Amino acid sequence: MPGESVTARAEDALRQALGEVEAARDAQELDRVRVRWLGRKGQISELLGQLGKLPAEERVEAGAAANRAKSQVSDALQEKLRTFRDQELRRRLEDERIDITAPGARLARGTLHPLTQLQYEIEDIFRSLGFEIVDGPEVEREYYNFEALNIPAHHPARDLQDTYWLTDGNVLRTHTSPVQIRAMETRRPPFRVLAPGRVYRNESLDASHEHTFYQVEGLYVDQDVSLSHMAGILTGFLEALFGEEVHVRLRPGYFPFVEPGCELDFQCLLCRGKGCPACKRTGWVEMCGCGLVHPNVLRHGRIDPGLWSGFAFGLGLNRLAMMRYGIPDIRLFQSGDLAFLNQF
Ligand code: PHE
Repeated sequence: MPGESVTARAEDALRQALGEVEAARDAQELDRVRVRWLGRKGQISELLGQLGKLPAEERVEAGAAANRAKSQVSDALQEKLRTFRDQELRRRLEDERIDITAPGARLARGTLHPLTQLQYEIEDIFRSLGFEIVDGPEVEREYYNFEALNIPAHHPARDLQDTYWLTDGNVLRTHTSPVQIRAMETRRPPFRVLAPGRVYRNESLDASHEHTFYQVEGLYVDQDVSLSHMAGILTGFLEALFGEEVHVRLRPGYFPFVEPGCELDFQCLLCRGKGCPACKRTGWVEMCGCGLVHPNVLRHGRIDPGLWSGFAFGLGLNRLAMMRYGIPDIRLFQSGDLAFLNQF
């Protein structure tokens, strides 16, 4: 209002400006308030500019009022800006807060395949009995898979139905026994080796037959080795595996690479020989083929059968795992079914 005194206008401006500072909702709005009142062409700045033109008697009072307006508005602006900064900081701290006590996202963890777990357990037991763990190729020469093991050409194990022959004359090994020959070739007696591994047979598949399965081969060569040594080691193995007393029996069985050849059964742990569904009511569970190493086989391994003798066994890992865990179908092992695998 042009007619008003500069003092009155300064007091007016102060009141209005403080009201606007109070009402500002963010830093930008606040800055517009600052420019409007204190900027180079701001209303308070203009009042200050007019002081020089005032008559002396009015100037003192007007100057005091205009300067008071300037300093109070500028204080209020600063105070309000600090409040906005504090609020902004608090908001960011809250937004970006990291709760270090919050539980992490659970990662899905795999486990070893049940066959691998059992294999490792068996390896540990045989290692404690002085056996060395050895390995052989799954694509095997006919010589190691058959010939050196005293399997004549007409033997049913050579039947085309059982063996996957490769076009180059090699085979997918049908058992882990070829590792016996390989172990003998590279060792001098006495020695004890254990050869776990995957084997293949051209089977028609059902709940107890799979084209791909696992065996554990054992070979023990020393002086004067007898069937009692074999029964002792295998009983000791079973007792370590099951953690209780185990009774075994030997039946004759034919394998060209052992003589005598046997099948080893153990008394059913569930019914203690009385007969139950688990042992097909026989009271006994078939465990492995075994026997004393045939002299021809020792010779193929360049070991003198006049000086050394040995026993060998080959047990089916899948069957053992099925018994131990109550797995009803051998095909589950290779199924890759996580619902099955996650149980182990
Ligand atoms: N290789 C035989 C099989 O696969 C098992 C066996 C191994 C038998 C060693 C006797 C000695 O059936």
